[in-house]
Amino acid sequence: MLKVHFLNVGKGNCVVIKFPSGHLTVVDIDNSQIDEENDTLQDPIEFLNSNYPGESVFRFILTHPDMDHMSGLHELHKNRTIVNFWDIEHAKKVDVDKMGLGGYSKADWDTYQKLRSAKESPTVIRVLHDHIPKSYWKEDRIKILSPSAELIKHANKTEEYNHGSYVLMIEHEGIRVLLGGDATKEAWREILKNHGKAALKADVFLAPHHGSPDNVEMDVFKHIAPQYVVVSDHRGHSYDYSSYNSLAPEKVYSTKHYGNIELTVSKATKAFTAEKNI
Ligand SMILES: [Fe+2]
Repeated sequence: MLKVHFLNVGKGNCVVIKFPSGHLTVVDIDNSQIDEENDTLQDPIEFLNSNYPGESVFRFILTHPDMDHMSGLHELHKNRTIVNFWDIEHAKKVDVDKMGLGGYSKADWDTYQKLRSAKESPTVIRVLHDHIPKSYWKEDRIKILSPSAELIKHANKTEEYNHGSYVLMIEHEGIRVLLGGDATKEAWREILKNHGKAALKADVFLAPHHGSPDNVEMDVFKHIAPQYVVVSDHRGHSYDYSSYNSLAPEKVYSTKHYGNIELTVSKATKAFTAEKNI
């Protein structure tokens, strides 16, 4: 069975995946909003403690080095063993003294620096879309659609690290789930150029950049042609989802309206469950 949990973390992103192999994977993390009065948000560590107690994180994938994707890394590292740590090649620097202004914590950035420069534990993986699949992600059928070397170069040159975001496809029992990271329009065009239309087709699409219209590239997304779109968005934020509504004939699930959203895929079941129904 494959389980994909899209957590309602507020501003950022956190997707927890339990692969049929048993490998627990966390794609991005954000706990920067959970101290606010809004107690409806999900603390990712609490989620792991209730649903996957004591399990090590076989892989943590940081789609790109922005704080709304790594807040809580310090807590996660304290609580769990991280076996493989996926990172991208970049030279981003942040002013740690100003970090509190965005509600972010220096401890998370420092933990990130420590993890990404680890010599052996965790194993640091920086992989590009055209690398030959290695056994430890091939067996979980993770296909890397982005970044390319060109996009990494572009991200570092422009200091817009969304260009270098991981975009990943996972597949089980004929169901394909596309995780869009914060990939930009440029990145989507390059994905289409590099992989072709058929590689983009997915049943479930996690919208890039929290559903921002700035990252919508319809000429590419029409080849994804998903039944369902999931948007990790926060309360008080009102992106216009009209393009996603027209893209997904079944449903657009946003975490701010539906809470935690879970996709279960097995031979017998292919189903979404949402914490709240509206
Ligand atoms: Fe983001």
